[in-house]
Amino acid sequence: MMHMSTVCACLAAVLVLNCLHVSASQRVNKTAEFVATDEWQVIAEGQAIPKGLHVRINLQTGLKEAKLLDPSERDTAMQSQSSDSDPGSGSISDPLSIEYKADMIEESVRKVKEHRGYAELRKAYKDFQKNFRTDAEVIVQLIEQYRNFSKTPLDLEIKPKMNALENLGYLVHQIDNALVFIDSGGLDDIILPIVVNDTNTALKVSAMRVLGALTGNNPKAQIKVFERNFGSHLAQIMMSSTNSAEISSALHALGALLRKFPLAQQRVLSTSGTQALIGLLRSTEIELRNKAKVVTLISDLVLEKRHVIDESKEEALAQYVLLELESWLQSHGYCGALEAVLSKDYVSLLDQPEVVEQFAVALQTTESLCQPLWSQSPALRHALLTVRNRFAHSEDEYRSEVSQALAELCERFYEKHSHSEL
Ligand SMILES: *[C@@H]1O[C@H](CO)[C@@H](O)[C@H](O)[C@H]1NC(C)=O
Ligand SMILES: *[C@@H]1O[C@H](CO)[C@@H](O)[C@H](O)[C@H]1NC(C)=O
Ligand SMILES: *[C@@H]1O[C@H](CO)[C@@H](O)[C@H](O)[C@H]1NC(C)=O
Repeated sequence: MMHMSTVCACLAAVLVLNCLHVSASQRVNKTAEFVATDEWQVIAEGQAIPKGLHVRINLQTGLKEAKLLDPSERDTAMQSQSSDSDPGSGSISDPLSIEYKADMIEESVRKVKEHRGYAELRKAYKDFQKNFRTDAEVIVQLIEQYRNFSKTPLDLEIKPKMNALENLGYLVHQIDNALVFIDSGGLDDIILPIVVNDTNTALKVSAMRVLGALTGNNPKAQIKVFERNFGSHLAQIMMSSTNSAEISSALHALGALLRKFPLAQQRVLSTSGTQALIGLLRSTEIELRNKAKVVTLISDLVLEKRHVIDESKEEALAQYVLLELESWLQSHGYCGALEAVLSKDYVSLLDQPEVVEQFAVALQTTESLCQPLWSQSPALRHALLTVRNRFAHSEDEYRSEVSQALAELCERFYEKHSHSEL
């Protein structure tokens, strides 16, 4: 058992030492010999170090560091656990390599658990944790900081607000973090007021990015976001803004809210949602790239419904059957709007093959909905054939593929007509 407590002491020392703030940002010369001192110094990638040093990975920087052993460490922490076959005879001066120490920690964790020394290990680990903030703590602190900003908008607060939003956007990609953010009031105290009332476009864009990040692939978060009526707030922004970044982040957040969430699709798209999406397609002030995002979202939702119904996933089926997505699209003039976009803007498509691909996918997905109108449109036919021909003569493999997809569409839409333009 004495052996065990030694291991524990060692772990505690290693973990707690890691928490000390030691400046490690010295310049490192890779080729130079590592000269150990009593201070932690960064070991360069691949740099050789003398044996017998205290080596650690600095958890804050991720860098390896080494220093001379303290006399006290020699007596306790750094006793080497030489091998399984001879566990009791740790000799004081055995050198420790990094690899060796990593093994040692794992090994000692295992042994400590075996010998019910778990409480001791936990204590060491807690001490270690005390010096680090978890993501949740960081999130709560960022929210508190944000609450401290003045109620009336101040220009000098925009920069720190943007910083806070950027950090939050990074953190809430993780599902657990997103839920901590919501439970701590982040949606109500930060995101909602900005999205609904703020006049600063940059802040709105950042807030909607956070919203999109925390909602994406996170069903629990989707419900919370839905309950706060974000769907109609986002639709409102899409109907009133012409700012490209604002539209783009609103579309992203709306997509994150709606995907795989038929109830939200039902509520949002049967009201202002469809109108907002088609409005973007119709607007002359919206750039093609964002229009492509609109048709991609529509196309994804149509496909999602189709897949669920084809696969007859029972629990979801009923909800999707009730979704009258196609008729909402039709009553808001989706087919005509898409026809107009392509007929009018096809020249700018000629140098944006990835946007053409997005439109081609949407045309294909919603073909059953719009075939009667599209197949009667000489302007659309002309646009599709022009882009198709231009890409068909390209050396670029990607453009050839897109051209092929367009050719197949044209064949289906216009097969009754002659191919005189080919
Ligand atoms: C690194 O150290 C080597 C050997 O001391 C020296 O020749 C070289 O100039 C140093 N490089 C830098 C970038 O300081
Ligand atoms: C917010 O303001 C209060 C009162 O001024 C202060 O005590 C607190 O530390 C501040 N919180 C943060 C996270 O800045
Ligand atoms: C937006 O502003 C109005 C008027 O000041 C206020 O009543 C409302 O609560 C605000 N909404 C949010 C979500 O902050």
